[in-house]
Amino acid sequence: MVAISVICYIKISTMKINSIELKYNNPIGEDKLDEIISLLDIKSSDTIVDIGGGTGSVLVKMIQDSGAKGILIDLDEKLIEQCRKTSKSMLETGQLTLIAKDAKAYIQQLDPESVDCFVCVGASHVFDDYLNLMKTIIPYLKPGGFILAGEEFWAKKPAQEYLDILGAEESESGYHYENIEGPEKLGLTYLYSHIASQYDWNKFEGIYFLEEELKALDFPATKRKEHLEKLRSFRGAQFKFGRSTMGFGLYLFAKDLKK
Ligand SMILES: C[S@@+](CC[C@H](N)C(=O)[O-])C[C@H]1O[C@@H](n2cnc3c(N)ncnc32)[C@H](O)[C@@H]1O
Repeated sequence: MVAISVICYIKISTMKINSIELKYNNPIGEDKLDEIISLLDIKSSDTIVDIGGGTGSVLVKMIQDSGAKGILIDLDEKLIEQCRKTSKSMLETGQLTLIAKDAKAYIQQLDPESVDCFVCVGASHVFDDYLNLMKTIIPYLKPGGFILAGEEFWAKKPAQEYLDILGAEESESGYHYENIEGPEKLGLTYLYSHIASQYDWNKFEGIYFLEEELKALDFPATKRKEHLEKLRSFRGAQFKFGRSTMGFGLYLFAKDLKK
């Protein structure tokens, strides 16, 4: 009997996914963000405070050309460190200050009516909810100052099944018009807004899901399985419910609008 050994050559493709990175931790498209920022005539004497500013992409964009002073507050030291690495010159000149603290506690250290513009994109939960965020920051805003806020809204009534998946209550978010009406009732003047498009959501969530798929490749088998099951189940829920139910708006308001 002759033993025949067969050697199989499996050709594995060397093609890879290019590394991609999300610049902003919110779904608003950069074109929309740029347009709203361009409405503001920011001066070098202005102070802008970003609550939950993450890696500083929004704030740095707002202060880099104008020379305005920026203060970024975020609880997450890793994100602050990332911002530190990319904004060295602004930090050296004192144009940018990074505060790794709970913004709820930090904000009380600000002087009343001392801030020209507050930014809070996707972080109103720091003050429990969107209206409380507005109520809290208004006293620290100069008359004639601005608020740039990014906030979720229900694009339609959320299905109970989706709320259960999110572990959320319907009352935790309002509708787009309510994100405008609420601050108006507090005396702010609504100026402009944008809402994330399906393209924006697709980019924001799609890149996140893709990043997580790739990240899982480095995990040991059991952890990878767990990670991917959770990820894919959430991704499925976002495609089934999230995309049609969840909206995100970027809102510009003024306190005592002046000419
Ligand atoms: C959805 S991310 C938005 C980040 C950033 N504004 C952006 O649009 O790219 C929310 C941010 O709020 C920060 N955060 C959460 N709780 C906070 C708190 N109590 N004080 C300060 N920052 C907080 C998180 O670390 C996170 O960076």
